[in-house]
Amino acid sequence: MGKQFLVLLLFSVATLASGDDIAMKTWFKKTDLSKQKVTQLQLYVQDILQGPTPTNVVVASANSTATSPTSFGLVVVLDDPVRIGPDPNSKTVGRFQGFYTFSSLEEQSIHLSFDFVFTTGKLNGSTLTLVGNNRFLREHREVPIVGGSGVFRLARGFAGVRTVSFTEFIFEYNLTILHY
Ligand SMILES: *[C@@H]1O[C@H](CO)[C@@H](O)[C@H](O)[C@H]1NC(C)=O
Ligand SMILES: *[C@@H]1O[C@H](CO)[C@@H](O)[C@H](O)[C@H]1NC(C)=O
Ligand SMILES: *[C@@H]1O[C@H](CO)[C@@H](O)[C@H](O)[C@H]1NC(C)=O
Repeated sequence: MGKQFLVLLLFSVATLASGDDIAMKTWFKKTDLSKQKVTQLQLYVQDILQGPTPTNVVVASANSTATSPTSFGLVVVLDDPVRIGPDPNSKTVGRFQGFYTFSSLEEQSIHLSFDFVFTTGKLNGSTLTLVGNNRFLREHREVPIVGGSGVFRLARGFAGVRTVSFTEFIFEYNLTILHY
């Protein structure tokens, strides 16, 4: 029984390792589980609410949302640019994709599920997943990093979040990531 399980396990590892995605294969080989790394990134995202291509769109609400002081029940999908600086002309390194729900009856607060999807350099193709609560009117917020892919396989960590501009909806994310 034990032997059979081991054979099965080895077989699945071999199958994964021989996948036809070359980048994936490299990452798989590079995942050294004996060495945990810490990576810190400072990134900026921008919600674009107006204009011909808004990056945040409302997809659902309850009847009571319109009269709720906290927009309770509003669901928004986003695909924001990710930049290396707070200036909208800074280099773009990826997209910030997912959705958020206004989830508090009592204060301005969202539950979010977001992925940093990197599109340049060594991180191209890698992702980081953030899930959690964000009381967005507070000066400093903290959101858990619950996973990742590619370079960030098996990631966990936390993101410090701050609003840089209330008029242009630019947000700072200081990410601390444990990964292999
Ligand atoms: C929401 O409003 C619509 C349109 O006024 C109505 O038809 C519907 O029954 C309402 N739904 C609830 C759950 O109150
Ligand atoms: C990122 O990876 C994709 C898919 O492999 C590739 O098409 C694209 O050119 C890469 N972008 C950069 C900036 O390296
Ligand atoms: C991010 O880190 C910088 C220092 O490098 C600090 O000034 C800033 O307040 C931090 N922001 C957040 C949101 O934690």
